[in-house]
Amino acid sequence: MNEVERIGVVGAGTMGAGIAQIAALGGYETRLHDPIPAALEKGVQRLREALAKGATKGLWAEEDADAASDRVGAARSLRDLGECDLVIEAAPEDLGLKRELFTSLAETCTEETILASNTSSLPVSAIAAETPRPERVVGMHFFNPPALMKLVEVVATADSSEAALTATTEVGVRMGRTPIRAKDSPGFIANRLARPFTLESLRMLAEGVAEAATIDRVCRLGGGFRMGPFELIDLIGLDVNLSVARSFYAQGGEPERWRPSPIQEQMVEEGKLGRKSGEGFYAYGDGPHREEDPDLRFDTPTLAAEDLVQIDPAGPMILPRLIAQIANETAFALEEGVGSPEDMDTAMRLGFNWPMGPFEMTILMGRPGVIRHLEELRRDRGETYRPAPELAAAIERRMAKAEEMKRRAAERGRR
Ligand SMILES: NC(=O)c1ccc[n+]([C@@H]2O[C@H](COP(=O)([O-])OP(=O)(O)OC[C@H]3O[C@@H](n4cnc5c(N)ncnc54)[C@H](O)[C@@H]3O)[C@@H](O)[C@H]2O)c1
Repeated sequence: MNEVERIGVVGAGTMGAGIAQIAALGGYETRLHDPIPAALEKGVQRLREALAKGATKGLWAEEDADAASDRVGAARSLRDLGECDLVIEAAPEDLGLKRELFTSLAETCTEETILASNTSSLPVSAIAAETPRPERVVGMHFFNPPALMKLVEVVATADSSEAALTATTEVGVRMGRTPIRAKDSPGFIANRLARPFTLESLRMLAEGVAEAATIDRVCRLGGGFRMGPFELIDLIGLDVNLSVARSFYAQGGEPERWRPSPIQEQMVEEGKLGRKSGEGFYAYGDGPHREEDPDLRFDTPTLAAEDLVQIDPAGPMILPRLIAQIANETAFALEEGVGSPEDMDTAMRLGFNWPMGPFEMTILMGRPGVIRHLEELRRDRGETYRPAPELAAAIERRMAKAEEMKRRAAERGRR
């Protein structure tokens, strides 16, 4: 496979314009396409403005912004992408539309062209199904906004060739991103491991463990998360978060632990959609939507009961339960071969700005703590908390590796 020199981006919206921007900054000749002329014009304009603004902020040099701007061209039709070595599709999230696009791209591009989809939730193999060469189809999942978020998931279907995956990974690096490898499976790595953060919090709310604002505060202050789960759902939109939950539940074969929350369904029915409708778990008026956090300082995330109780009497019941369920989802994903433990930690730090990756959190909690928590939850609440068969072994392996790395670092320090 030849080296990638020219990149085409299909769809000039939020994601496409940002992806084209980092492709051009990475030194690639970049062609941006959108079938709607006004959207194409707006996308190119937004991209050029973002390049200039980044230069004034010192993110890159002015000459680099100018050179990147010169490397970008507007493609009026898919045929104008014929010479591209890699085409990244960022069109609306609709399987029929993406399939048609991939069929047309396979006709207009060369046999060598790698076709990548930025889909968040559709199986890449389903998008590739009608293309004549599924081995050159991969997922290339960026995060919003692409120019700021460092993560890109390179998604491998059962048919994707190693050559296509390696070339895509190299492009990710040259675009200034951190690529990780994910198996084509529901939500890939990052969106899947983020599931328990909101779902388990909704269950705790339903059970009356604590109010939404308390759960959020414990996650911010104790867990070091920038935003609590309910603030996050309000920001994303309850309807959007619910449709993601439904898609996971259906794609995963309706496992109990992915069952969507009845509270969320009810709130969506009532039109409480979060920030965009003015009300969700919080009311968004003129003033701040929540009280100031108390001035409690923990240097790193903490799961110690004596720390968490200072935040709220319910604190020790909230964060350990959340982390145990995140650890469990991570172990299920590991067993299914969705990605490597290192990539899972990277995914959550870079894709969701988590203070620690799921394995790092698991190590913080310790193997006995995670297992005890899940077993107690399973005994009281059933199958939702069934520990992944490989959970204990996965934690052991990861802890042994962390110890080994610590030992090597200490040895290097002594030398
Ligand atoms: N927005 C996010 O946070 C985010 C994050 C990661 C991945 N994604 C994925 O990226 C893709 C694009 O999302 P977005 O948020 O940029 O959407 P968007 O609505 O902002 O942009 C989509 C663009 O595609 C164009 N378009 C419509 N029909 C088309 C066609 N037939 N061929 C080519 N282009 C067409 C539209 O004119 C529009 O400019 C989706 O698959 C989405 O799931 C989105």
